[in-house]
Amino acid sequence: MDIELLKKTAKQMVAPGKGILAADESSGTCQKRFESVGVPCTEENRRAYRETLLTADGLEQYISGVILYDETIRQETNEGEAFAAVLEKKGILPGIKVDTGAKELALHPGEKVTEGLDGLRERLAEYKTLGARFAKWRAVITIGKDLPSPACIHANAHAMARYAALCQEAGIVPMVEPEILIDGDHNIERCYEISTATLKKTFEELAGQDVAVEGVILKTSMVIAGKQAKSAEGGSSSGGQSGMEEVAKETIRAFKETLPAGLTGVAFLSGGQTDEQATEHLNAMNATGKLPWPLSFSYGRALQNPVLKIWAESPNANIAKAQAALLFRSKMNSLATQGRYSSEMEKERPY
Ligand code: G3H
Repeated sequence: MDIELLKKTAKQMVAPGKGILAADESSGTCQKRFESVGVPCTEENRRAYRETLLTADGLEQYISGVILYDETIRQETNEGEAFAAVLEKKGILPGIKVDTGAKELALHPGEKVTEGLDGLRERLAEYKTLGARFAKWRAVITIGKDLPSPACIHANAHAMARYAALCQEAGIVPMVEPEILIDGDHNIERCYEISTATLKKTFEELAGQDVAVEGVILKTSMVIAGKQAKSAEGGSSSGGQSGMEEVAKETIRAFKETLPAGLTGVAFLSGGQTDEQATEHLNAMNATGKLPWPLSFSYGRALQNPVLKIWAESPNANIAKAQAALLFRSKMNSLATQGRYSSEMEKERPY
């Protein structure tokens, strides 16, 4: 294992003021996103949309890496340049989603386990030749009545550890993603309890497979009440929607309880938060002062929502406008990684 290479790549991913653009939606997820804006989800439309994202001029000021999907890492710009090469030229690290999706967990109705370990060594070797420097694997944990089960947390943590070991063997940084879904009516304490149990198990399993945490980026969700939790005025720690400071405080508390000191960094997913919430929460955490790990972003929807909408209105004519929206959201989140964002800045939105 080339630990120096892994450490260098991982540090680059969470370099000051920078975060990750998640553009690794599977064709199924893309279908849903494109449908919502009335664009047919053809291979060419997916390619053209991704080209709009990756060729935004100046993206490298805020974005250190982009996660691609299997189809995307094999695609090219209109001019015939491979997407991975476009990113590398800008100094942006190409990443790749390597799991093959979350499937029903046997004997556990309502729970999922992520698959994709079979043949992963060979797939990683190929992705490396295509330019991938880091790889993502997403595990899904659902909060519900009597959920998650210990079996679900364990099965997912173990699979993540085996994937992470294969990545490190290949010289590719694993971006380990246990996502605790925001769906549900649970309160923030319940999210705290499940987040800490999941993170604790994840790092136990990583250690069990001898994965070096200095060459790992954790991608996870914030500690936050479920989307359907009944609103309580001003947010409340016992019920209702969480307040901004509460999310920041509880997320940091969960991390301090479970994350190893040597971990290179954390990049949050947005998971269904609004664009502004995702930025505000990240900013609130970074505004608390010095933390043991860089806290950054690896947003999909919270970076792409306005971009996709604008692009879809007129895919040929709106490229520059869509790119301006991407640059704006990337900049806001870059400022949030430094605790320098304020909602006042949203007035400058170019969309
Ligand atoms: O795996 C999840 C995605 O990479 C992040 O997407 O920010 O829309 O939750 P999201």
